[in-house]
Amino acid sequence: MSPRLVRAEDDAVGRGDTPLRVTVDGRPVDGVEGQTIAGVLLAAGRRSWREGPSGTPRGVFCGIGVCFDCLVTVNGRRDVRACRRRARDGDEITTQTRAEPGEGR
Ligand code: FES
Repeated sequence: MSPRLVRAEDDAVGRGDTPLRVTVDGRPVDGVEGQTIAGVLLAAGRRSWREGPSGTPRGVFCGIGVCFDCLVTVNGRRDVRACRRRARDGDEITTQTRAEPGEGR
């Protein structure tokens, strides 16, 4: 999974992009239709968006829905795999943590 977004005007096959906007922890993040939530986050420069039990950062590991490292809350639904869920315009995404307060922080 590429962390970069090739802009439509730079794409050799001449594709068109339909823009979308989601919020991540209340902040707007722009993407294009067809991207997964992980793709939107990676293209926006995020490398991690969750914390493991010890407070270690987590993001995309497998990118194919197997490891569950990329979990986010989408529109109030917890434990959505960001690498498997396509972003939709207006999605409200919140990050999750399993870290205990004071551990690893
Ligand atoms: S990155 Fe492994 S399940 Fe999403």
